[in-house]
Amino acid sequence: MIEILTPSELDRARVTGRVVGDILRSLKARCRVGTNLLDIDQWAREMIDAAGAASCYVDYAPSFGRGPFGHYICTAVNDAVLHGMPHDYRLADGDLLTLDLAVKKDGVAADAAISFIVGETRNPEDVAMIDATERALAAGIAAATPGARLGDLSHAIEQVLSGAGYLINTEFGGHGIGSTMHQDPHVSNKGRPGRGYRLRPGLLLALEPWVMADTDRLITDPDDGWTLRSATGCRTAHTEHTIAITDHGAEILTLPQP
Ligand code: MF3
Ligand code: CO
Repeated sequence: MIEILTPSELDRARVTGRVVGDILRSLKARCRVGTNLLDIDQWAREMIDAAGAASCYVDYAPSFGRGPFGHYICTAVNDAVLHGMPHDYRLADGDLLTLDLAVKKDGVAADAAISFIVGETRNPEDVAMIDATERALAAGIAAATPGARLGDLSHAIEQVLSGAGYLINTEFGGHGIGSTMHQDPHVSNKGRPGRGYRLRPGLLLALEPWVMADTDRLITDPDDGWTLRSATGCRTAHTEHTIAITDHGAEILTLPQP
């Protein structure tokens, strides 16, 4: 079922979205060389509590993971791209880190992810890859006008990612969001214009372009049963916002407070 939010639910989605955006911004500012991924998880937990929100991850147990996630944020370093389970690892100079966070507050969920480089060493290929996911997200959002179809968004994302030279994996993509974190419709990062569900005001979508430098194949980390890594060990990037379709176009809900 595809949920359409009422105006008052949309107001609550704006609050949840702001919580997610603010937490991601604070966490990014606290990450430095030597920061342990488990500390980031602890900080995320504290900030979620302080905001009066609840984690969408800690009890999450879908078919694609081994048991409940048991953590508050996804931390994906270098070859890890999605569902990165926090573990005892200290960030090194030049690491490419993705933080992905979803919380629920007053009955409405929001989900966002950012990728960035830790420390001073900025590999130009990493910078370009992060930039491609950010531009793809912007293109998807720009295409999300009321009356557009899902295929238009998917195609806009695809054009940017493949235009930048990346292969696209279609096993995981964006999704509807609302009273739960993951719901219909699925939003592929590849698609045909003019096809699929027609967007309408009140629909919430999480758009999440992600790529791997030289492959479209994923492997699941055998130790934690959750973390998805590039099959070749290459680096990866992922950027995500939750947006609301309104009469006037897409509104980004997961931006931090200006
Ligand atoms: N937030 C992720 C997404 O963008 C899902 C993470 S599920 C987790 O869809 F439980 F692994 F964290
Ligand atoms: Co998501």
